[in-house]
Amino acid sequence: MTHDVIIIGSGAAGLTAALALAEKLKVLVLAKGELTGGSTAWAQGGIAAVLDAGDTFENHIRDTMVAGAGLNRLETVEFVIERAPHAIDRLVELGVPFNSEGEHLHLTREGGHSHRRIVHVADATGWAVQEALLKAANANPNITMLPHQACIDLITGKHEERYSGSGRVWGVYALNEKTGKVEAHTARATILATGGAGRVYQFSTAPRGATGDGIAMAWRAGARVGNMEMMQFHPTCLYNLEVKNFLITEAVRGEGGRLINPRTGHRYMLDYDGRAELAPRDIVARANDAEIKRDGLDFVHLDISHQPPEFVREHFPNIYEKLLGLGIDMTTQPIPVVPAQHYTCGGIVIDLTGRTDLPGLYAAGECTESGLHGANRLASNSLLECFVFGEAAAADILARWDSFDAPPPIRQWDASRVTDSDEEVIIKQNWTEIRRFMWNYVGIVRTTKRLERAAHRISMMYGEVEDYYGHFRVSTDLIELRNLLQCADLIVRSALARHESRGLHFTLDYPKMLAVAKDTVLVP
Ligand code: FAD
Ligand code: SIN
Repeated sequence: MTHDVIIIGSGAAGLTAALALAEKLKVLVLAKGELTGGSTAWAQGGIAAVLDAGDTFENHIRDTMVAGAGLNRLETVEFVIERAPHAIDRLVELGVPFNSEGEHLHLTREGGHSHRRIVHVADATGWAVQEALLKAANANPNITMLPHQACIDLITGKHEERYSGSGRVWGVYALNEKTGKVEAHTARATILATGGAGRVYQFSTAPRGATGDGIAMAWRAGARVGNMEMMQFHPTCLYNLEVKNFLITEAVRGEGGRLINPRTGHRYMLDYDGRAELAPRDIVARANDAEIKRDGLDFVHLDISHQPPEFVREHFPNIYEKLLGLGIDMTTQPIPVVPAQHYTCGGIVIDLTGRTDLPGLYAAGECTESGLHGANRLASNSLLECFVFGEAAAADILARWDSFDAPPPIRQWDASRVTDSDEEVIIKQNWTEIRRFMWNYVGIVRTTKRLERAAHRISMMYGEVEDYYGHFRVSTDLIELRNLLQCADLIVRSALARHESRGLHFTLDYPKMLAVAKDTVLVP
């Protein structure tokens, strides 16, 4: 099946690109599972943009660079932040019902921001954004959306019927999760918008499908990846034995929430940073981790019960209801929280047009390393990056359209030598093992010895997983396992290569930050 452009991913980045391209071209959007299965639908806090008269682009740029510990590329930071007000206007046009205050959008505050600048739809911004984008895409005759397509690998020169060996990308092989068949989808241009790799960790706020598929696919096809050691941990994920990945938005701290040690009753953040609860995420997550480890706690407390109950219910209606269902009334009680993996700052290296190293392949959103986040993403800059780079990639494809060749005949997927798996338990066991050792050895505080242990485990698992992949019919679980392992490897190799502590990468063996900030770029 040939299309003008294929977009892999139906979150904020993928659908933004699709809507921009569909003004002129026919677009196919492929998604694993349901169309709402990515992180976008789960976003809570909001989207950062300079909209207040007392705020400036310079402030937002500085906050982003400070949070990112100077590893950000200034050119990218300026590019994104200056386009933020336009991105918000576009979302308003699409019908996203942002909260307002009189004539202006209501702006909340989050860690690392020197001003109120987060537009939001109560505490469920992502769901409103996802709904609006899907509604617009559904109504557009130039966009075809196919859910339940687990993409396996990019189609490149080596898959052409007459092998050209070029690095040109022509589309993707995808497992149709409904029929169990693998199909080749070809196009003149392909955009990866596959989200992050959070599920490589045992505890993560990211949804089940965040297995780094796009990063692994791009790497296998020959694209560079950057700063994969910069995995972000959110300080406040709900601690609950049943509900494992429910985020308590940073906006709770933005609206006055305090972090308290439940054993001593001490409000401890000022011991760690002058910005207290509103310090950047890496600092607050490390402080929570340190309190928990030092005192042998299961969790710390996040307390907003000093605010009027009506204020809390109005700002956080979904979190309030969710917690009430679990027996916690946040208007009168503190919330037990722990740090959990939240965001993948590194990824496929792209430029300001969303181009990757491979001709015909673009990428946008959380699967990329655009230079925006540096060593630690500033809160609510992520959805923003999706909108800006979704549009940038689309604009570049439209501008260069006449130079894109039509795809040549491609070899079909060969499933003649594989059989049905007889030991699904191996897949499950390996999933669990990777996630556990990544949490224990490659977490918030690292050491070279622990990283080397993780590297050793990864090298032992590679043979087993590749052997399994080579002999058995692919399933979504197997595709994801292969990608999780690939991403774990990229994270550990990047972490071992960085001989300093900067932003999210904190190692006891190299506690100091080097004078010059340098990206960790891995070349296939
Ligand atoms: P996603 O929205 O994750 O979409 C990925 C898409 O790719 C999905 O459609 C998925 O099905 C598809 N896909 C993946 N692999 C494959 C494959 N192999 N084949 C086919 N399709 C595939 N950021 C903010 O800026 N503000 C916030 O308030 C905020 N809150 C957050 C709260 C939570 C709980 C989480 C987890 C994240 C939050 N973030 C927030 C981060 C932000 O939501 C994400 O970074 C952003 O939504 C990523 O969008 P995306 O389009 O890059 O990918
Ligand atoms: C949150 O609401 O705390 C998440 C915001 C973000 O990830 O940027």
